[in-house]
Amino acid sequence: MVQASVTKRYRFCAAHRLHTDHFSPEENWAAFGKCNNPNGHGHNYVVLVTVSSAVSAAIGGSVNLDRLDRIVDEQVVARFDHHDLNLDPEFANCTTTGENLVLLIWDLLVKHLPAGQLEKVGLIETRDNYFEYAGPASETSVLREGRHG
Ligand code: NI
Repeated sequence: MVQASVTKRYRFCAAHRLHTDHFSPEENWAAFGKCNNPNGHGHNYVVLVTVSSAVSAAIGGSVNLDRLDRIVDEQVVARFDHHDLNLDPEFANCTTTGENLVLLIWDLLVKHLPAGQLEKVGLIETRDNYFEYAGPASETSVLREGRHG
């Protein structure tokens, strides 16, 4: 069976502040600079979700894109759009960096998609910042692998 990849783009707007309670104010400033501004700031995030699709001549591809849209809208867009990421329970103990956010989005999606279908999640935070995650080596949850460690 030939496999192709399909990528869909989604968007949400959210506020955040890069800050950790594990650091002093000076250490937070040194680590995060202006992103540590107490008033926070916002981004127009773009999420690129790549799934694998089994290609057959008759049907074309195996991915149900309407279903994918619904899952991403419910699990990611509705959760984060016009929210403060720092208030999300998943960020209670970890910083709202692009790396942590792309890992969280992977975790939110992978458990709702057919096993092995999710190939990669990309996250555009600013014009010049792009993060991506293609999953753990095995099909285990990122959360169990110590993202919050
Ligand atoms: Ni930011």
